[in-house]
Amino acid sequence: MTTVITFGTFDLLHIGHINILRRAKEHGDKLIVGVSSDDLNFSKKSKHPVYNQDCRMAIISSIRFVDGVFLEESLALKRKYIIDHKADILVMGSDWEGKFDDLGDICKVIYLPRTENVSTTEIKQYIKEH
Ligand code: CTP
Repeated sequence: MTTVITFGTFDLLHIGHINILRRAKEHGDKLIVGVSSDDLNFSKKSKHPVYNQDCRMAIISSIRFVDGVFLEESLALKRKYIIDHKADILVMGSDWEGKFDDLGDICKVIYLPRTENVSTTEIKQYIKEH
């Protein structure tokens, strides 16, 4: 049984989110997703998500290739989360390329290319302009 773990805010769910979750699951048998808390998102991106953390966790846990979700409260706790969830593989988007290589001592670290031309930021911008 290979467990894959990944992390993200996943606000305003879009095809880039679905693609990375589907491809993450293809690397193992079980996919666990750490959904960034509202406070962590604010510290990372200086903005509050549109959907709060409970809604984002409910949405992500409803996706068929997701086997479990938990709240990611700090970027500094990645190592602990990986150990607690007994993850064999950490999958991150290529926007984080190289940033988590130090975790290679406890799991395999894989960076997957982002889906082009879509992001939560762009969706918000599009809605604002149209
Ligand atoms: N992701 C992706 N392709 C995209 C957008 C996101 O593969 N086009 C991945 C990210 O690499 C990350 C996960 O989806 O692993 C969650 O990303 P998140 O930051 O929540 O989504 P973004 O759309 O990038 O959000 P924002 O615009 O607020 O930065």
